[in-house]
Amino acid sequence: MRIGVISDLHIDRYNTEEIKPKDFSLTLANEVARQSIELLIIAGDIANDHHKAHRFIQEVEQLTNIRVLFVPGNHDFWNSSKDAKTTWEIYRFFKMQQESLIGNPYIINEKWAIVGSPAWYDYTFASDRFSYDDLKKREFSGGTWQDKVRINWQKSDQEMSEYFRDEASRDFEKVKDKNIILVTHVPTHKAFRVPMPHRIFDYYNAFIGTSDFNDFYDEHNIRYSIMGHIHFRHEVVENGVNYICACLGYRREWRTNNLQHEIRNTLKVIEIGDE
Ligand SMILES: [Fe+2]
Repeated sequence: MRIGVISDLHIDRYNTEEIKPKDFSLTLANEVARQSIELLIIAGDIANDHHKAHRFIQEVEQLTNIRVLFVPGNHDFWNSSKDAKTTWEIYRFFKMQQESLIGNPYIINEKWAIVGSPAWYDYTFASDRFSYDDLKKREFSGGTWQDKVRINWQKSDQEMSEYFRDEASRDFEKVKDKNIILVTHVPTHKAFRVPMPHRIFDYYNAFIGTSDFNDFYDEHNIRYSIMGHIHFRHEVVENGVNYICACLGYRREWRTNNLQHEIRNTLKVIEIGDE
């Protein structure tokens, strides 16, 4: 089976003559067809709004006629449409959808299953020159980490990281003994933080990843670990686990101005057999 992986499409950052939200679903669907992909995984940050993210998934499914699976990213919880939903209501909105992996592992066949979680950053990826009190301000060098003002879990980031770990732990139990494709939005491996020392990211790496998923790699047969959030396109293989970050990222980060070219370069295909 050919499984396509992509994340961080951020479809609502642009609405210009050249590039509109609709172009993302059309271009992605074309590429899925061109590469004969049979199942598509999106590792979060589709949009700054849950309605737009939801509509995008529906569009891609209709255009491709394949199953699309996703986890929401931090941006998908931002609620730019201001429809009065709380962060937890948005979480439940996503969780209800059949394409959502949260609380709902996807069984591919006898041997393989997909477990997914947004996961949440727990500050352990920051430089240790900052204290917890420094980091919990989520403000540094004149900037504010925008989740601070856009999202309200009514819990600390550490508590959220543990919440998503515990939820994922229950999902792993449902697919015991299978080979696992783990999908998180937030990176679970420090290879995916911004290299340090770094003037800004010694601090902001706090909001990049989590260590709370570490034990899962010993306890379960995770073969692929898909993640997003950091806007690199990067792969690491370690102890039999293939860590993949296939982020499209913001247009200013692209190498070209061509959406088709960028999606083609970003979309990663993994092939799994019946064995
Ligand atoms: Fe993100």
